[in-house]
This record gives sequence, structure tokens and C-alpha cells, in this order.
Amino acid sequence: MTDADAASPGPGPGAGPGPALDPAAMRKQYRVEGITEAELAATPVEQFARWFKDAAVEARLFEPNAMVVSTADAEGRPSSRTVLLKQFDEKGFVFYTNYDSRKARDLAANPHVSLLFPWHPMARQVIVRGVARRTGRDETAAYFRTRPHGSQLGAWASAQSSVIASRDGLDASYAELAARYPEGEQVPVPPHWGGFRVAPQSVEFWQGRLNRLHDRLRYVAEPDGSWRVERLSP
Ligand SMILES: Cc1cc2nc3c(=O)[nH]c(=O)nc-3n(C[C@H](O)[C@H](O)[C@H](O)COP(=O)(O)O)c2cc1C
Repeated sequence: MTDADAASPGPGPGAGPGPALDPAAMRKQYRVEGITEAELAATPVEQFARWFKDAAVEARLFEPNAMVVSTADAEGRPSSRTVLLKQFDEKGFVFYTNYDSRKARDLAANPHVSLLFPWHPMARQVIVRGVARRTGRDETAAYFRTRPHGSQLGAWASAQSSVIASRDGLDASYAELAARYPEGEQVPVPPHWGGFRVAPQSVEFWQGRLNRLHDRLRYVAEPDGSWRVERLSP
């Protein structure tokens, strides 16, 4: 699907990391086939479902549901981290996390969020921009019950994003919980843990193509709930 370009010469000996490790010398030629307006699905979620299937089934990417979630705090200072997508449908894209984490604090102050799916081996990228809202407690509880026992305990053991004194303290707290809730015993849903659903306002589908003339097609939500598609210059 992607072929190596003619490698450009990297810096000489002693001038840097050498061609093999020099990011400026790393170039891939992307695929010939692009995406057209005509073949796009009616909604961005349907189009996402097609590409998600390509990533998972056709390209067999490792964790195609891993996405970079970017938030900004009340002062507009950005931060990013990888999170796993756990569900998507016309209502939005759902992930689960700790409600006391930095990302959750950002979202409480500023619900605008960006989700980026970096499907590099396919020369594809999807960027969702939208607004995040907490999932309902019933929905959170239903998902929590599907998690492995160890992950359920982990959600209790970790005060995500807080500074801790040592790894030992974390392991001790997990061990205490494991003694209190042995395998088979129901673990209550932590009140500080749950989902966010990102309702999309725009979704861009990026397909890498030859000579950096990539395709970028973006769905933008209209006030009446329909979607407009626009093409962006690469
Ligand atoms: C592949 C991968 C998947 C991850 N999935 C999640 C996730 O689903 N939920 C989560 O809270 N953190 C997840 N993390 C950890 C986050 O990247 C991050 O460290 C954590 O959520 C704290 O972020 P914050 O301090 O910015 O809130 C994942 C990390 C990686 C590398």
C-alpha cells in the first residue's frame, strides 16, 4: 500500500543521527487511490464505520480504536493523550476514564475536544471535533461490568493524573482491593470513573496520496442536523 520514496541523503557522519534515524530523511510515498465526494457515506459516523472496518479487518492494525484525545483547560492550554474508543454511533464517540483526571478537569471547564485516529500504516487519519458530555451512570455501569476484574480494581486503585510517592503505594492499594474483592465478587462502579461521549461537530477523513496531493474531506454539522461535505487543500 505504501512504498518507500527514494531516500534523500541524510547528514554525513558525525553531523547527526545518520539517514536511518534522521526524521527529515524519512519519506513514504502514499497510495494512489483516494476518496471522492461521491463515494462518501451519508453521515460521518457511517463513513467512520467503513474506515474503522478497513483498519481493523483489512489492514489488521494494532488497536485501531486507539485515538489521541486533545483537550484545553479554561485558559486554553492544550494537552493530549491516547485513549481507547469503546463505542460509536450517531450519538457520538465514547471513551472511559477517571473523572478526576486532567482530561476530565479540562472537559469540565471546556467541553470542546478533538479526537485523532492515527492510522499511519494505511496513510489515513480521521479527526473528530466536537463537544464531550459525561455518559449516564447506567451506561457507565453497564460498560464497567464488561471489564476484566483486574481492570475494575485498577479503576479504584488509581487516582489518575495525581502525583504519587511510589509504585509500591499503588501496588499496595491494588493488593488491598484484590483482598477485599476477590475474583468472582462484584466490584462496585467507582463514582470517580465513567464515560464521555463526544458529539461530533466536524469529522475530517484524510487519505494520503501521491506527491503530497492528499484527499481531505470534511463533514460539517449544519444547524438543521444535516451534514455538509467540504474538500480541504492538502
Ligand atoms: C494505547 C493506550 C490506551 C489508553 N487508553 C486509555 C483509556 O481508555 N482511558 C484512560 O483514561 N486512559 C487511557 N490511556 C492512558 C492515557 O493516555 C493517559 O495517560 C491517562 O488517561 C491520563 O491522562 P490525563 O492525565 O491527561 O487525564 C491509554 C494509553 C495508551 C497508550
